[in-house]
Amino acid sequence: MSLKKNLHNLSEKIDNLSAAEGLAFLSDLFRGKVVFSTSLGQEDQVITQMIAENFLPIQIFSLDTGRLFSETLDLIARTETKYHTKIKVLYPERESVENLVLKQGINGFYDSVDNRKSCCYARKVEPLKRALLGNSIWVTGLRAEQSANRSGMQKIEWDEANQIIKFNPLLDWTYEEMITYITKNKIPYNPLHDKGFVSIGCAPCTRAIMPGEDARAGRWWWEDSKKECGLHAR
Ligand code: ADX
Ligand code: SF4
Repeated sequence: MSLKKNLHNLSEKIDNLSAAEGLAFLSDLFRGKVVFSTSLGQEDQVITQMIAENFLPIQIFSLDTGRLFSETLDLIARTETKYHTKIKVLYPERESVENLVLKQGINGFYDSVDNRKSCCYARKVEPLKRALLGNSIWVTGLRAEQSANRSGMQKIEWDEANQIIKFNPLLDWTYEEMITYITKNKIPYNPLHDKGFVSIGCAPCTRAIMPGEDARAGRWWWEDSKKECGLHAR
């Protein structure tokens, strides 16, 4: 049966399971074909803890765009040490980034939405495609509360762009539930969160937010767009 045809059955099963149970169920059913993308955000750290503490056969990978905060890179090392695990780091194609910078300049993403999307494509979307190729399940840390765009997502959904089943185990978790879980389980997190950063991406494209501001207001703050980089195309 094609992967896509499994969707309905899978979502019925997953709906009654906790996040950790869902991860265990899918990694057993699709053994060796389940991968998890982490940006080292708080949601992702929760999922990494669940994978590591339950010894689940899920490969964890991260996309190093070349423009991440050093705090994020340090957290990769801290997480690997704490959980005795390995996070596979993927880098953009050298030629694509060299051509991009030649064309639009080192910070060309500030000049137009098109430039910004080209940068996200070269630095994130293309490496993501490589990471997902040949796998069946892509686990993400998306939460519905994060934005209007994400509130319409499903826990299990078909990702047309990458022809893969996407599993968002924390989709219905609230921010408070996530923080409680992190505190209770002493999960390492990015120190920038304590400085007003909520959603953290590349350094030049992320700022801290003010109390009461939308969680994603600090991402590509100069834009009036849907504030998505193309990883989660809908
Ligand atoms: S983004 O599309 O705006 O960058 P966001 O930072 O909210 O996404 O993260 C949502 C999910 O996308 C994360 O939980 C993670 O699964 C994936 N993700 C985002 N950025 C990366 C990255 N650099 N490396 C790996 N996964 C990422
Ligand atoms: Fe480029 Fe900014 Fe997108 Fe990072 S978030 S890939 S620096 S445009």
